[in-house]
Amino acid sequence: MRRYSRITGTGSYLPPRRLSNAELAAELAENGVETSDEWIVERTGIRFRHFAEPDVCSSDLALHAARSALQAAGVAAHDIDLIIVATSTPDMVFPSTACILQHKLGANGGAAFDVQAVCSGFVYALAVADSMIQTGAANKALVVGAEVFSRILDFKDRTTCVLFGDGAGAVVLEASDTPGILASDLHADGKHVGILCVPGHVSGGAVLGDPLLKMDGQAVFKLAVGVLESAARAVLAKSGKRESDIDWLIPHQANIRIMQSTAKKLRLPMSKVVVTVDQHGNTSAASIPLALDSAVRSGQVKRGDLLMLEGVGGGFTWGAVLLNF
Ligand code: ACO
Repeated sequence: MRRYSRITGTGSYLPPRRLSNAELAAELAENGVETSDEWIVERTGIRFRHFAEPDVCSSDLALHAARSALQAAGVAAHDIDLIIVATSTPDMVFPSTACILQHKLGANGGAAFDVQAVCSGFVYALAVADSMIQTGAANKALVVGAEVFSRILDFKDRTTCVLFGDGAGAVVLEASDTPGILASDLHADGKHVGILCVPGHVSGGAVLGDPLLKMDGQAVFKLAVGVLESAARAVLAKSGKRESDIDWLIPHQANIRIMQSTAKKLRLPMSKVVVTVDQHGNTSAASIPLALDSAVRSGQVKRGDLLMLEGVGGGFTWGAVLLNF
């Protein structure tokens, strides 16, 4: 009998400090950086973001989200045999945030590693965990997206610092006789490294290069809309489904205009799109599992619904996962 993987629980966590656009604008104004609630809402749809305190790391946010997902799934931490954390803001250069999370959870012994695909990280991690479950390499996986993007923002650059926030989301993925994940589709095109990057690195005890986020917003926007459509069509084709079969589109939460364009191309009404970017900002690898958990807990997403998860981000990376929830 074929093995599939199925999401059996979701969880998420946002650090308590929540800033409205007006509050962020007031803080930025103290450093001579001018922005406004009106500009941010009109161009991005973002109204709030959460920022972690300086001593809080990605693994701390991941721990809360993971515990909540484990509880929802009714799975004990020690039964988890695979942990994948998608993050671009790891606690350390090494070891992986997944190993740190594994220890904090008391889930020691299984495989644990990080995936670095920036805002596509969760979709990449979910596809890898699905493959490992299908082959029998794992039975019960914890797949987490966790970020403290506030650490890598340049608060003097108004074109980027208003866009991002911190948070974590997690799912428990278990082996199942019925699908579950129907299809996934992952891609990257490294020629676009420069349009979205944090170009610094650690060398000889110092940071070489710039450790803050750089983005060509318009280039990212154009690429994102095209690849989100192609990845969605690829997973629909692989699983023999049509656009109209999709109950919920849960895209990476970067910008409401990217989501609207994607929905239009897939001929989906916005009422079928889970939107949390207004509340969370762009939390990179955490954005999709945060949106999923919020939609599950609000009762929007129900068992049996067909979900299209789509990520796009630095690399340039992109991908989609189609699943029966
Ligand atoms: N507040 C006020 N004014 C601003 C701000 C701000 N925060 N940021 C830029 N502006 C100004 C610019 O200086 C410019 O002024 P000018 O015309 O006097 O020169 C004007 O607004 C327009 O700037 P643009 O960069 O052309 O604005 P645009 O409409 O392209 O919106 C944005 C910028 C929101 C970044 C858009 O390009 C976008 O959404 N890109 C997608 C990128 C994205 O979402 N990235 C997230 C990470 S990638 C990912 O997750 C996939």
